[in-house]
Amino acid sequence: MSMLEELTIPEANPGRWLGLWVDKLLNYKDAPGPWQFMCRDYFDRSCKIVGLDEQNPNEVDRVDTMLSSGKAISSLGAAQCTWQGSRTAKFIQGVHQAILDLQQRFPSETLRVLYAGCGPLAPLALPILAHFGCENISFDLLDIHESSLARAKTLAAHFGVEQGIHEWICGDAAAFTPPDGHPGYHLIISEVMQQALQNEPQVAVTINLSQFLVEDGVFIPERIQLSLQYYNSGARLNATLNGGGDIEQFTQPIADLFELTPTLAKGWAGDSERIPAAKVEIPPPNDPKASLYIFTEIQVYDSIWLGAYECSLNLPVRMKKKLSDETEAEFYYEINEKPGLRVLK
Ligand SMILES: C[S@@+](CC[C@H](N)C(=O)[O-])C[C@H]1O[C@@H](n2cnc3c(N)ncnc32)[C@H](O)[C@@H]1O
Repeated sequence: MSMLEELTIPEANPGRWLGLWVDKLLNYKDAPGPWQFMCRDYFDRSCKIVGLDEQNPNEVDRVDTMLSSGKAISSLGAAQCTWQGSRTAKFIQGVHQAILDLQQRFPSETLRVLYAGCGPLAPLALPILAHFGCENISFDLLDIHESSLARAKTLAAHFGVEQGIHEWICGDAAAFTPPDGHPGYHLIISEVMQQALQNEPQVAVTINLSQFLVEDGVFIPERIQLSLQYYNSGARLNATLNGGGDIEQFTQPIADLFELTPTLAKGWAGDSERIPAAKVEIPPPNDPKASLYIFTEIQVYDSIWLGAYECSLNLPVRMKKKLSDETEAEFYYEINEKPGLRVLK
């Protein structure tokens, strides 16, 4: 059987197709090629069903919404995230593993899951419901874009998993509060970030939503780490073109700068818009052609991590501010319409 045949899911009724699709995806480990093909398949099929035309999108599907804690990307932008195969597959695998663990931890409870920033294709909910069934899991889906929610609803009905979705909430995840008497969520999923936690509201959303997790609940992603490293990107590109390119050979780690976890975020609630980050001594570079970059590592769940260059969220970001070696730099994270890590002095 050719690789293409192996990756192609046989036509079946939509619910069955999605169940086969997700089971296959869960079985591929460390497989960026197959993941990319399969996630593109999910994207193409789903866009057809919800009437999202990538080549000729409506105006409303192309508009980002600027919030006080960062940019919420457009309906089309959110849909396009799906075909970053390693990102989508590792998040689906992380959610799958978290649900298995939560079922052990809360054996007699229906698991309540909040998926904040579901976009129009809700790829971290619909395949999961197709896999586990709708009986013992109850999702609330939230997005700032009404049109994304409407499309996700159409898609959920198409795949026959709409019964697993309890609430459809249009609003800002950084300000959302569940109704009075709500017992909290066992699992909260929110991927509203870019590399180096810049521009999008992941930090503000994590600060707000982490207070609604039940004790021993799970937030996905579990951890995001930003670090400062010297990096010679030109030399690495050259090596990549010549069949090499192991990132460690071209980087010189300096220090961890900032970490986001739900536990840390909970502690920042009510603080100002400035969150203190690391104070760092900058050594001279071992490679004189290297520059200072911020690297982003994401612990999706447990042993599932996304590292440098695995997807757009892990692209290294070159420091704009010129910092010379043998100086001390103090960082902080700023929450505003364009959030990000900044240098205090
Ligand atoms: C990066 S996309 C992710 C889409 C989808 N969850 C996925 O994983 O492929 C982010 C989505 O979150 C939504 N979003 C971003 N910030 C938000 C906020 N503060 N409140 C509600 N929705 C938000 C955007 O509208 C967009 O649909």
